[in-house]
Amino acid sequence: NKKEKEFVKNLVRSVENFPEKGVIFRDITTALKNKKGLQIIIKDLTERYKDKGIDYVVGADARGFIFGAAIAYNIGAGFVPARKPGKLPAEVESVEYSLEYGKNSIEIHKDAFSKGDRILIVDDLLATGGTAKAMVQLVEKLGAKVVELAFMIELADLKGRELLDGYEVYSQLVY
Ligand code: PRP
Ligand code: HPA
Repeated sequence: NKKEKEFVKNLVRSVENFPEKGVIFRDITTALKNKKGLQIIIKDLTERYKDKGIDYVVGADARGFIFGAAIAYNIGAGFVPARKPGKLPAEVESVEYSLEYGKNSIEIHKDAFSKGDRILIVDDLLATGGTAKAMVQLVEKLGAKVVELAFMIELADLKGRELLDGYEVYSQLVY
C-alpha cells in the first residue's frame, strides 16, 4: 500500500555524482538492509505475481538476483539468471544493449526455458530500459513468453517504459 511504499522510498539513499558527475544514484542497499523495508518490497511483489502462472523468474545480473530469487521462491517458480558475458558455463543466447553509462551484453543459457513458458523479468531499477529490453529479447529468442517486467525503482526521466512499449511494466517506486 501507499504508506508502505512511502516508508521504503524514505529508506532509499540518493548519492550525487556516482558513478560519474551529474548522475544521482539511487542506492537500494539502505532499503534492503532494513528488516521491515525488505519485507515490504518482497511481500508486495509476491502478492502481485503469486497467481499469474509464472514458470520462471528471470533476474538481471547482479542486483536483479536479490529480488528474483526471493520472488521465485515465494511464488513457487524457478529462478533463471541473466548474466554479464562470460559467466555462464553452458551454451548461451546473447544480446547487446546500451546502458545509462556504457555498453554491455547479457546472456541466458540456451536450455533455460521450454516453448511457451511464462516468464517474469525482474530487476532492481529501470533506467534507460536497455537492460530490460535485452532480457525481453533473450526470453523471446528462446521461445518463452514475457508476462510482465517488475522493478523496485523506475527513473521516469530516462523513459525506459517507452522502450518497453507493448509489455506490462510494474515499478514499486517512481523517481
Ligand atoms: C543497473 C541496474 C539495471 C540497469 C538499469 O545494473 O541494476 O540492471 O543498470 O539500467 P538501464 O535501464 O539503463 O539498462 P548494472 O549494469 O549497473 O549492473 P549491476 O547490477 O551489476 O550493478
Ligand atoms: N541508480 C542505481 N542504479 C542505476 C542507476 C541509478 O541511478 N542508473 C542505472 N543503474
